[in-house]
Amino acid sequence: MAKGEIIAGFLAPHPPHLVYGENPPQNEPRSQGGWEPLRWAYERARKSLEDLRPDVLLVHSPHWITQQGHHFLAVPKLSGKSVDPIFPNIFRYTFGLDVDVELAEACAAEGARLGLTTKLMRNPNFRVDYGTITTLHMMRPQWDIPVVGLSANNSPYYLTTEQGLEEMDLLGRATRAAIEATGRRAVLLASNTLCHYHFHEEPDPPEDMSKEHPENMAGYQWDMRIIDLLRRGRVKETFEILPRFIDEAFAEVKSGAFTWMFAAMGYPELAGELHGYGTVIGTGNAVMEWNLVRAGLARAA
Ligand SMILES: [Fe+2]
Repeated sequence: MAKGEIIAGFLAPHPPHLVYGENPPQNEPRSQGGWEPLRWAYERARKSLEDLRPDVLLVHSPHWITQQGHHFLAVPKLSGKSVDPIFPNIFRYTFGLDVDVELAEACAAEGARLGLTTKLMRNPNFRVDYGTITTLHMMRPQWDIPVVGLSANNSPYYLTTEQGLEEMDLLGRATRAAIEATGRRAVLLASNTLCHYHFHEEPDPPEDMSKEHPENMAGYQWDMRIIDLLRRGRVKETFEILPRFIDEAFAEVKSGAFTWMFAAMGYPELAGELHGYGTVIGTGNAVMEWNLVRAGLARAA
């Protein structure tokens, strides 16, 4: 078996509004559209993903929160209805997905080897969180590529941000080792919003784009600073200022997906491709790609 490798990573945030705006058959509520620039950004990301032809998509979601350790979806087929507890009016999504259980088991074993508490989620009736579902739908609405879902352990919230993110760094390294050992060609999805200050009242209808803009100027400026660094491939510098970004912009990257993804890729000083940026209820969302095949760091399909 050839050694597996990570072929790309995407920053792929999960506002359920993007699914709502698209009106796919899986989602019950109907909209008049909305958030088009972000949805078109995802269209570009979908095209790249199509060309990459991965064996598996791994997604780390802030909304599958586990208090004890890092959990991995490990049921071969999961289906059901995923409802956003904050926005049940816009997201009631009927999902069905295939899990790469062998890779999930390898991730859990490698994580444990590096000293993390890990657990496989074997409950066949488990309802997958809306963050995982939204990111996967926006990246690959056909649902024809197996996935591994990773929970967000709450360590950055119980410990310091730095200590919590150290755990995510270990989780990333474990993920990489598992991908290499199982021979997979894998794409990583970090399901994180950037600045997370948001409005507290919803317009009627929710897709009234005349009400959509950054919640505050400082948060927007932080997002542009981070995106600018990432577009220029200044990854080390980004991680140096990440704790300040998290504190001052209430950034959702605190929950770990962004660190997990970069740790797994080995923090390449590689220019990310910005597919698009937009706000959702005032929060900042960037769809970005680090294509390791195009950069010559991974083999083409
Ligand atoms: Fe979120």
